[in-house]
Amino acid sequence: MTIRAVVRGVGHYLPERVVPNSEFEATIDTSDEWIRSRSGIERRHFAAEGQTTSDMATRAAQAALAQAGLVPDDIDAIIVATSTADLTFPSAATMVQARLGMTRGFAYDMQAVCAGFVFALANANALILSAQARRVLVIGAETFSRLMDWNDRTTSVLFGDGAGALVLEGQEGMGDSTDRGILSLDLNSDGRHKDILYVDGGVSTGTTGHLRMMGKEVFRHAVEKLADTAHTALEKAGLTGGDVDWIVPHQANIRIIEATAKRMQVPMDRVIVTVQDHGNTSAASIPLALSVGVARGQIKPGDLIVAEAIGGGLAWGSVVLRW
Ligand code: UT7
Repeated sequence: MTIRAVVRGVGHYLPERVVPNSEFEATIDTSDEWIRSRSGIERRHFAAEGQTTSDMATRAAQAALAQAGLVPDDIDAIIVATSTADLTFPSAATMVQARLGMTRGFAYDMQAVCAGFVFALANANALILSAQARRVLVIGAETFSRLMDWNDRTTSVLFGDGAGALVLEGQEGMGDSTDRGILSLDLNSDGRHKDILYVDGGVSTGTTGHLRMMGKEVFRHAVEKLADTAHTALEKAGLTGGDVDWIVPHQANIRIIEATAKRMQVPMDRVIVTVQDHGNTSAASIPLALSVGVARGQIKPGDLIVAEAIGGGLAWGSVVLRW
Protein backbone atom coordinates (compact mmCIF):
# COMPACT_ATOMS: atom_id res chain seq x y z
CA MET A 1 0.00 0.00 0.00
CA THR A 2 1.12 3.55 -0.80
CA ILE A 3 0.02 6.67 1.05
CA ARG A 4 -1.43 9.36 -1.23
CA ALA A 5 -2.39 12.95 -0.44
CA VAL A 6 -6.04 12.92 -1.53
CA VAL A 7 -8.33 15.96 -1.92
CA ARG A 8 -11.09 15.68 0.66
CA GLY A 9 -12.59 19.17 0.33
CA VAL A 10 -12.33 22.33 -1.74
CA GLY A 11 -13.66 25.86 -1.32
CA HIS A 12 -13.07 29.45 -2.32
CA TYR A 13 -13.83 33.03 -1.45
CA LEU A 14 -14.02 36.07 -3.71
CA PRO A 15 -14.43 39.60 -2.36
CA GLU A 16 -17.76 41.28 -3.09
CA ARG A 17 -16.51 44.14 -5.23
CA VAL A 18 -16.45 43.23 -8.93
CA VAL A 19 -14.53 45.62 -11.17
CA PRO A 20 -15.30 45.45 -14.91
CA ASN A 21 -12.64 46.45 -17.47
CA SER A 22 -14.63 49.58 -18.30
CA GLU A 23 -13.82 51.02 -14.86
CA PHE A 24 -10.16 51.49 -15.89
CA GLU A 25 -11.11 53.54 -18.96
CA ALA A 26 -11.76 56.62 -16.79
CA THR A 27 -8.28 56.74 -15.23
CA ILE A 28 -5.77 55.22 -17.70
CA ASP A 29 -5.37 55.04 -21.48
CA THR A 30 -6.91 51.60 -21.99
CA SER A 31 -10.07 49.94 -23.26
CA ASP A 32 -12.27 46.98 -22.46
CA GLU A 33 -11.49 45.74 -25.99
CA TRP A 34 -7.68 45.83 -25.45
CA ILE A 35 -7.86 44.06 -22.09
CA ARG A 36 -10.23 41.35 -23.37
CA SER A 37 -8.35 40.68 -26.59
CA ARG A 38 -4.81 40.71 -25.11
CA SER A 39 -5.56 38.87 -21.84
CA GLY A 40 -9.07 37.37 -21.87
CA ILE A 41 -9.90 39.24 -18.67
CA GLU A 42 -13.38 40.83 -18.44
CA ARG A 43 -13.65 41.59 -14.72
CA ARG A 44 -11.88 40.92 -11.42
CA HIS A 45 -12.69 41.10 -7.71
CA PHE A 46 -10.97 43.61 -5.42
CA ALA A 47 -10.80 43.28 -1.64
CA ALA A 48 -12.65 45.92 0.39
CA GLU A 49 -10.68 48.49 2.33
CA GLY A 50 -9.24 46.77 5.38
CA GLN A 51 -9.94 43.29 3.99
CA THR A 52 -6.76 41.22 4.10
CA THR A 53 -5.28 38.07 2.62
CA SER A 54 -5.78 36.17 5.88
CA ASP A 55 -9.48 37.23 5.97
CA MET A 56 -10.05 35.77 2.52
CA ALA A 57 -7.89 32.71 3.24
CA THR A 58 -9.96 31.98 6.36
CA ARG A 59 -13.23 32.16 4.39
CA ALA A 60 -11.90 29.81 1.71
CA ALA A 61 -10.61 27.43 4.40
CA GLN A 62 -14.00 27.37 6.12
CA ALA A 63 -15.68 26.51 2.81
CA ALA A 64 -13.21 23.66 2.16
CA LEU A 65 -13.59 22.30 5.71
CA ALA A 66 -17.38 22.39 5.40
CA GLN A 67 -17.20 20.47 2.12
CA ALA A 68 -14.84 17.94 3.71
CA GLY A 69 -17.15 17.53 6.72
CA LEU A 70 -14.28 18.40 9.06
CA VAL A 71 -13.69 20.88 11.88
CA PRO A 72 -10.48 22.95 12.33
CA ASP A 73 -9.01 20.69 14.99
CA ASP A 74 -9.14 17.77 12.53
CA ILE A 75 -6.35 19.56 10.63
CA ASP A 76 -2.66 18.99 11.43
CA ALA A 77 -1.09 21.74 9.33
CA ILE A 78 -1.98 24.87 7.35
CA ILE A 79 0.11 26.13 4.44
CA VAL A 80 -0.83 29.45 2.86
CA ALA A 81 0.68 30.18 -0.54
CA THR A 82 0.86 33.96 -0.82
CA SER A 83 3.08 36.90 -1.74
CA THR A 84 0.70 39.35 -0.07
CA ALA A 85 0.55 38.31 3.59
CA ASP A 86 -1.16 40.93 5.79
CA LEU A 87 2.11 41.80 7.59
CA THR A 88 5.80 41.06 7.00
CA PHE A 89 5.37 38.61 9.87
CA PRO A 90 3.78 36.59 11.40
CA SER A 91 2.64 34.39 8.57
CA ALA A 92 -0.86 34.69 7.12
CA ALA A 93 -1.16 30.97 7.92
CA THR A 94 -0.85 31.49 11.68
CA MET A 95 -3.48 34.24 11.43
CA VAL A 96 -5.78 31.80 9.64
CA GLN A 97 -5.06 29.21 12.32
CA ALA A 98 -6.15 31.67 15.03
CA ARG A 99 -9.25 32.81 13.12
CA LEU A 100 -10.36 29.24 12.53
CA GLY A 101 -10.06 28.66 16.28
CA MET A 102 -7.55 25.87 15.67
CA THR A 103 -5.57 25.20 18.83
CA ARG A 104 -3.25 22.43 17.64
CA GLY A 105 -0.93 21.67 14.74
CA PHE A 106 1.30 24.11 12.87
CA ALA A 107 0.99 26.76 10.17
CA TYR A 108 3.33 28.61 7.81
CA ASP A 109 3.42 30.52 4.51
CA MET A 110 4.93 29.47 1.21
CA GLN A 111 6.14 32.13 -1.23
CA ALA A 112 6.67 31.18 -4.86
CA VAL A 113 4.48 33.99 -6.28
CA CYS A 114 2.07 32.76 -8.98
CA ALA A 115 3.47 29.22 -8.75
CA GLY A 116 3.01 29.26 -4.96
CA PHE A 117 0.06 26.89 -4.85
CA VAL A 118 1.92 24.17 -6.76
CA PHE A 119 4.90 24.55 -4.40
CA ALA A 120 2.54 24.45 -1.39
CA LEU A 121 0.94 21.25 -2.69
CA ALA A 122 4.42 19.70 -3.03
CA ASN A 123 5.13 20.67 0.55
CA ALA A 124 1.83 19.34 1.87
CA ASN A 125 2.35 16.13 -0.07
CA ALA A 126 5.79 15.70 1.56
CA LEU A 127 4.32 16.30 5.04
CA ILE A 128 1.67 13.64 4.43
CA LEU A 129 4.00 11.08 2.84
CA SER A 130 6.52 11.49 5.69
CA ALA A 131 3.72 11.07 8.27
CA GLN A 132 4.34 14.50 9.82
CA ALA A 133 0.71 15.38 9.09
CA ARG A 134 -2.37 13.42 8.09
CA ARG A 135 -4.56 16.34 7.05
CA VAL A 136 -3.23 19.57 5.58
CA LEU A 137 -5.19 22.67 4.65
CA VAL A 138 -3.50 24.15 1.58
CA ILE A 139 -4.64 27.67 0.76
CA GLY A 140 -3.77 30.11 -2.01
CA ALA A 141 -4.77 33.66 -1.09
CA GLU A 142 -3.77 37.05 -2.50
CA THR A 143 -4.59 40.75 -2.42
CA PHE A 144 -2.56 41.79 -5.46
CA SER A 145 -4.69 44.95 -5.71
CA ARG A 146 -2.45 46.29 -2.90
CA LEU A 147 0.64 45.91 -5.12
CA MET A 148 -0.68 47.78 -8.16
CA ASP A 149 0.69 51.02 -9.56
CA TRP A 150 -2.66 52.41 -10.71
CA ASN A 151 -0.94 54.65 -13.27
CA ASP A 152 0.68 51.65 -15.00
CA ARG A 153 -1.72 50.38 -17.66
CA THR A 154 0.54 47.43 -18.50
CA THR A 155 -0.03 45.76 -15.10
CA SER A 156 -2.94 47.34 -13.18
CA VAL A 157 -5.63 45.85 -15.45
CA LEU A 158 -4.39 42.27 -15.12
CA PHE A 159 -4.65 41.27 -11.46
CA GLY A 160 -7.39 40.49 -8.94
CA ASP A 161 -7.94 39.32 -5.35
CA GLY A 162 -9.32 36.07 -3.93
CA ALA A 163 -8.61 32.81 -2.16
CA GLY A 164 -9.06 29.08 -2.68
CA ALA A 165 -8.38 26.13 -0.38
CA LEU A 166 -8.03 22.35 -0.46
CA VAL A 167 -8.09 19.86 2.39
CA LEU A 168 -5.58 17.11 1.64
CA GLU A 169 -5.77 13.86 3.58
CA GLY A 170 -3.42 10.87 3.64
CA GLN A 171 -5.23 7.80 2.29
CA GLU A 172 -4.03 4.41 1.16
CA GLY A 173 -3.67 3.78 -2.57
CA MET A 174 -2.39 1.02 -4.82
CA GLY A 175 0.75 2.90 -5.83
CA ASP A 176 -0.24 3.27 -9.49
CA SER A 177 -1.78 6.04 -11.58
CA THR A 178 -5.35 4.86 -10.91
CA ASP A 179 -5.00 6.11 -7.31
CA ARG A 180 -6.81 9.21 -6.17
CA GLY A 181 -4.60 12.02 -4.86
CA ILE A 182 -1.30 13.59 -5.87
CA LEU A 183 0.48 11.33 -8.36
CA SER A 184 3.49 13.45 -9.32
CA LEU A 185 5.00 16.91 -9.19
CA ASP A 186 7.56 18.97 -11.05
CA LEU A 187 9.10 22.12 -9.52
CA ASN A 188 11.53 24.60 -11.10
CA SER A 189 13.00 28.05 -10.62
CA ASP A 190 15.59 30.23 -12.35
CA GLY A 191 16.61 33.29 -10.34
CA ARG A 192 18.36 34.90 -13.29
CA HIS A 193 14.97 36.21 -14.47
CA LYS A 194 14.22 38.38 -11.41
CA ASP A 195 13.99 41.62 -13.38
CA ILE A 196 11.10 40.62 -15.66
CA LEU A 197 8.59 40.23 -12.79
CA TYR A 198 9.11 41.62 -9.29
CA VAL A 199 7.81 44.04 -6.65
CA ASP A 200 10.04 47.09 -6.18
CA GLY A 201 9.56 47.24 -2.41
CA GLY A 202 10.11 45.23 0.74
CA VAL A 203 12.27 45.23 3.84
CA SER A 204 15.24 46.60 1.87
CA THR A 205 13.30 49.72 0.83
CA GLY A 206 10.97 50.19 3.78
CA THR A 207 7.98 50.28 1.40
CA THR A 208 5.43 47.76 0.19
CA GLY A 209 6.32 48.58 -3.41
CA HIS A 210 4.54 48.00 -6.71
CA LEU A 211 4.47 45.09 -9.12
CA ARG A 212 6.70 45.57 -12.18
CA MET A 213 6.46 43.25 -15.16
CA MET A 214 7.92 42.96 -18.63
CA GLY A 215 4.79 41.25 -19.89
CA LYS A 216 6.07 40.12 -23.27
CA GLU A 217 9.12 38.45 -21.73
CA VAL A 218 7.06 36.65 -19.08
CA PHE A 219 4.62 35.58 -21.80
CA ARG A 220 7.45 34.03 -23.82
CA HIS A 221 8.75 32.04 -20.83
CA ALA A 222 5.22 30.95 -19.87
CA VAL A 223 4.38 29.51 -23.27
CA GLU A 224 7.68 27.65 -23.40
CA LYS A 225 7.88 26.38 -19.81
CA LEU A 226 4.30 25.48 -18.83
CA ALA A 227 3.73 22.71 -21.36
CA ASP A 228 7.22 21.35 -20.61
CA THR A 229 6.63 21.13 -16.84
CA ALA A 230 3.20 19.56 -17.38
CA HIS A 231 4.74 16.96 -19.70
CA THR A 232 7.47 16.20 -17.17
CA ALA A 233 5.01 15.71 -14.32
CA LEU A 234 2.77 13.50 -16.49
CA GLU A 235 5.77 11.44 -17.54
CA LYS A 236 6.77 10.93 -13.89
CA ALA A 237 3.27 9.52 -13.28
CA GLY A 238 3.50 7.29 -16.38
CA LEU A 239 0.77 9.30 -18.14
CA THR A 240 0.40 11.48 -21.25
CA GLY A 241 -1.73 14.46 -22.35
CA GLY A 242 -4.26 11.96 -23.69
CA ASP A 243 -4.99 10.75 -20.14
CA VAL A 244 -5.84 14.24 -18.88
CA ASP A 245 -9.47 15.04 -18.04
CA TRP A 246 -8.76 18.65 -17.01
CA ILE A 247 -5.90 21.06 -17.33
CA VAL A 248 -6.27 23.53 -14.45
CA PRO A 249 -3.83 26.27 -15.46
CA HIS A 250 -2.67 29.37 -13.64
CA GLN A 251 -5.07 32.03 -14.88
CA ALA A 252 -2.88 34.86 -16.16
CA ASN A 253 -3.79 35.17 -19.82
CA ILE A 254 -6.19 33.22 -22.05
CA ARG A 255 -3.60 33.26 -24.85
CA ILE A 256 -1.04 31.52 -22.60
CA ILE A 257 -3.70 29.02 -21.49
CA GLU A 258 -4.64 28.23 -25.11
CA ALA A 259 -1.02 27.95 -26.27
CA THR A 260 -0.19 25.55 -23.42
CA ALA A 261 -3.23 23.36 -24.10
CA LYS A 262 -2.31 23.26 -27.79
CA ARG A 263 1.29 22.23 -27.05
CA MET A 264 -0.09 19.51 -24.75
CA GLN A 265 -2.55 18.42 -27.47
CA VAL A 266 -5.46 18.80 -25.06
CA PRO A 267 -8.60 20.50 -26.49
CA MET A 268 -9.89 23.67 -24.79
CA ASP A 269 -13.10 21.92 -23.67
CA ARG A 270 -10.87 20.04 -21.22
CA VAL A 271 -9.39 23.21 -19.69
CA ILE A 272 -10.84 25.02 -16.67
CA VAL A 273 -10.93 28.73 -17.52
CA THR A 274 -11.79 31.43 -14.97
CA VAL A 275 -9.45 34.23 -16.09
CA GLN A 276 -12.38 36.18 -17.57
CA ASP A 277 -13.99 36.51 -14.13
CA HIS A 278 -11.03 36.60 -11.73
CA GLY A 279 -8.09 38.12 -13.62
CA ASN A 280 -4.70 36.97 -12.39
CA THR A 281 -4.98 36.13 -8.68
CA SER A 282 -1.42 34.77 -8.44
CA ALA A 283 -1.18 31.87 -5.95
CA ALA A 284 -4.98 31.85 -5.52
CA SER A 285 -5.73 31.18 -9.17
CA ILE A 286 -5.35 27.38 -9.25
CA PRO A 287 -7.37 26.61 -6.08
CA LEU A 288 -10.00 29.13 -7.23
CA ALA A 289 -10.19 27.38 -10.61
CA LEU A 290 -10.40 23.96 -8.93
CA SER A 291 -13.22 25.11 -6.67
CA VAL A 292 -15.13 26.82 -9.48
CA GLY A 293 -14.54 23.78 -11.73
CA VAL A 294 -16.17 21.54 -9.11
CA ALA A 295 -19.02 24.00 -8.49
CA ARG A 296 -19.73 24.17 -12.26
CA GLY A 297 -19.95 20.36 -12.36
CA GLN A 298 -16.90 20.08 -14.62
CA ILE A 299 -14.44 18.34 -12.25
CA LYS A 300 -15.73 15.02 -10.88
CA PRO A 301 -14.30 12.35 -8.56
CA GLY A 302 -11.78 10.19 -10.41
CA ASP A 303 -10.87 12.87 -12.99
CA LEU A 304 -7.19 13.22 -13.85
CA ILE A 305 -6.03 16.81 -13.42
CA VAL A 306 -2.80 18.53 -14.33
CA ALA A 307 -2.33 21.97 -12.80
CA GLU A 308 0.53 24.22 -13.92
CA ALA A 309 1.76 27.72 -13.04
CA ILE A 310 4.60 30.20 -13.57
CA GLY A 311 5.43 33.47 -11.88
CA GLY A 312 8.01 35.76 -10.34
CA GLY A 313 11.42 34.28 -9.72
CA LEU A 314 10.95 32.85 -12.21
CA ALA A 315 9.38 29.90 -10.42
CA TRP A 316 7.21 27.36 -12.21
CA GLY A 317 5.88 23.86 -11.81
CA SER A 318 3.02 21.44 -12.13
CA VAL A 319 1.16 18.76 -10.27
CA VAL A 320 -0.72 15.70 -11.51
CA LEU A 321 -3.52 14.56 -9.27
CA ARG A 322 -6.58 12.38 -9.49
CA TRP A 323 -9.64 14.11 -7.97
O1 UT7 B 1 1.17 35.55 -13.22
C1 UT7 B 1 2.50 35.76 -13.57
C2 UT7 B 1 2.67 35.50 -14.97
N1 UT7 B 1 2.23 36.63 -15.75
C3 UT7 B 1 1.88 36.46 -16.98
O2 UT7 B 1 1.82 35.34 -17.42
C4 UT7 B 1 1.63 37.66 -17.85
C5 UT7 B 1 2.30 37.43 -19.17
N2 UT7 B 1 2.13 38.49 -20.14
C6 UT7 B 1 0.95 38.79 -20.71
O3 UT7 B 1 -0.07 38.27 -20.34
C7 UT7 B 1 0.95 39.77 -21.86
O4 UT7 B 1 2.27 40.03 -22.29
C8 UT7 B 1 0.26 41.12 -21.52
C9 UT7 B 1 -1.26 40.93 -21.40
C10 UT7 B 1 0.83 41.68 -20.24
C11 UT7 B 1 0.49 42.13 -22.65
O5 UT7 B 1 0.09 41.60 -23.89
P1 UT7 B 1 1.04 41.73 -25.19
O6 UT7 B 1 0.29 41.21 -26.33
O7 UT7 B 1 2.34 41.07 -24.84
O8 UT7 B 1 1.18 43.28 -25.34
P2 UT7 B 1 2.49 44.19 -25.30
O9 UT7 B 1 3.07 44.24 -23.94
O10 UT7 B 1 3.39 43.82 -26.44
O11 UT7 B 1 1.88 45.60 -25.62
C12 UT7 B 1 1.30 45.92 -26.92
C13 UT7 B 1 0.89 47.36 -26.91
C14 UT7 B 1 1.99 48.30 -26.42
O12 UT7 B 1 1.92 49.49 -27.18
P3 UT7 B 1 3.00 49.79 -28.34
O13 UT7 B 1 4.32 49.77 -27.65
O14 UT7 B 1 2.82 48.66 -29.31
O15 UT7 B 1 2.59 51.12 -28.85
C15 UT7 B 1 1.56 48.61 -25.01
O16 UT7 B 1 2.03 49.87 -24.55
O17 UT7 B 1 -0.23 47.54 -26.02
C16 UT7 B 1 0.06 48.61 -25.11
N3 UT7 B 1 -0.62 48.37 -23.85
C17 UT7 B 1 -1.89 48.70 -23.62
N4 UT7 B 1 -2.81 49.31 -24.40
C18 UT7 B 1 -4.03 49.51 -23.87
C19 UT7 B 1 -0.13 47.76 -22.74
N5 UT7 B 1 -1.07 47.71 -21.79
C20 UT7 B 1 -2.17 48.30 -22.32
C21 UT7 B 1 -3.48 48.54 -21.82
N6 UT7 B 1 -4.36 49.13 -22.62
N7 UT7 B 1 -3.84 48.18 -20.57
